[in-house]
Amino acid sequence: MAILAAEGSLHSSGAPTGGVNSAQPLAGGGLPTFGVLLAGAAEVPLQTPVRGTPPDTRPAGGLGAGSGAPLAGATSHSSKWQNFLKEGREYVADCNPMPPSGHLTKVTGLVMEAVGLKMPVGSTCAIHLPNNVVEAEVVGFSGERLFLMPENDVYGLVPGARVIPIEPVHVLTLGGKRKPKRRRVADRAKHLPVGNMLLGRVLDGAGKPLDKLGMLPDLESAPLQNRSFNPLERASIDTALDVGVRAINSLLTVGRGQRMGLFSGSGVGKSVLLGMMARYTSADITVVGLIGERGREVKEFINDILGKEGMARSVVVATPADTSPLMRLQGAAYATTIAEYFRDQGKNVLLIMDSLTRFAMAQREIALAVGEPPATKGYPPSVFAKLPQLVERAGNGLEGSGSITAFYTVLTEGDDQQDPIADSARAILDGHIVLSRRLVEQGHYPAIDIEASISRVMSRLAPPEHLSVVQRFKHMYAHYQRNRDLISVGAYVSGSDPLLDEAIVLYPRMEQFLKQGMFQREPYQDSVTQLNALFAPA
Ligand SMILES: Nc1ncnc2c1ncn2[C@@H]1O[C@H](COP(=O)(O)OP(=O)(O)OP(=O)(O)O)[C@@H](O)[C@H]1O
Ligand SMILES: [Mg+2]
Repeated sequence: MAILAAEGSLHSSGAPTGGVNSAQPLAGGGLPTFGVLLAGAAEVPLQTPVRGTPPDTRPAGGLGAGSGAPLAGATSHSSKWQNFLKEGREYVADCNPMPPSGHLTKVTGLVMEAVGLKMPVGSTCAIHLPNNVVEAEVVGFSGERLFLMPENDVYGLVPGARVIPIEPVHVLTLGGKRKPKRRRVADRAKHLPVGNMLLGRVLDGAGKPLDKLGMLPDLESAPLQNRSFNPLERASIDTALDVGVRAINSLLTVGRGQRMGLFSGSGVGKSVLLGMMARYTSADITVVGLIGERGREVKEFINDILGKEGMARSVVVATPADTSPLMRLQGAAYATTIAEYFRDQGKNVLLIMDSLTRFAMAQREIALAVGEPPATKGYPPSVFAKLPQLVERAGNGLEGSGSITAFYTVLTEGDDQQDPIADSARAILDGHIVLSRRLVEQGHYPAIDIEASISRVMSRLAPPEHLSVVQRFKHMYAHYQRNRDLISVGAYVSGSDPLLDEAIVLYPRMEQFLKQGMFQREPYQDSVTQLNALFAPA
């Protein structure tokens, strides 16, 4: 239509005027720009005469005048056409193409099927209903059929509902400039808000505030998947991080950028220990991901465990158990994305994820729903692939940037340390802290089982003299535990084992050393000094 309009008036007189955005209804035979031609074709109602023309390129004075320089005429001829085509190109580049769309053909359980679209796995789309829009993620495909997983409920979906891809929003920086087009697959993943304004806020897995402190300013966003970088470019772990817990600081020293697992059954004190670390750590920022836990616990964790002190420099992402499995996965990814943002700003971040097991369970729900066969204990293979993908995002950044020190809780149901998720997590993490129900039963908090716990990078962080005291502590503690029954029934004869004699004397002080009140802070240096004092000659 636009071309016909242009051709139809090709020989009208006049000169090109205005810019791309100067589209005006034509008056008095004035010449239009390319923009006017297209705008006229697309937007001007049919009764409005569209009389736009390309430029009149005849030399000044007219063809038959016989006057004027032919060379000057030729130059002006080509430049007018060039301008005309340039305008055309700009106008076309600015057009919004018609969005492709497909439609829903099937919904079974959690999974929906759509046809008519070609979208990469991991991208998002919107399902349009008469009064509602449901967001969903592409989790797989088979032939022409896309498998979609809704972010929330499938309630209200109708057969044939229109499915439209959601392009990631362009990132607006403060200067208002558009960033270059995204080309990598990770960049096509869903983008959620990041920035300093998140500090002190509680968000859900879709980046919406749960704390009624107002909407987030829409300044910056980041993709939920990261661009992985060369492992050789990662800064190494060489500085200890103060977590404010004596037993960990001194005996299981954690380095900046280390990823630790906190293994325990239910009700053994995981949340309290994580809260203590969040409150008392020397890290600049704490990001807490509460994934798949009870809804009641979210409020408790924020009010009672984290408190005002911890909350001021924390961001909490909460996706409790009643949210969709996709939302729970997204919550874990979002918490990691926020931690990555602060790391890239040069901050030392403590990332706390409660729990990694619930993350794995959410992936199991999705994978089974799209037809993946279960393998170990009902967990399909993709679960074991997703765990390292999440965990590897934590750690140190490139040389010169900040760090993400991460603690992931792992549920060992029935205190079974051989659970497949626990087993897999132990293999991919840089150390594990085991909480023991036996200690809880004795009223020993935090219930850290020193014998079963290990920090794999401690030997690179602590000086040799510190390491040798740690060895001595562990050896003596374990020796006492092995002979505990003998001692308690009075079967041990003092003097028959000099090491055990020493352990019997030291044990009450060692036990006291390992205990710590919920609201008691132990800085790193004090923890090490107290450990040395245990073995100092009287
Ligand atoms: N350091 C501590 N000092 C005193 N009491 C503690 C301490 N740590 C934990 N507790 C007690 O243990 C209880 C359970 O702790 P917590 O809620 O942290 O367990 P959990 O492992 O997170 O449980 P769940 O598996 O249900 O999430 C707390 O309510 C608290 O009474
Ligand atoms: Mg808990």
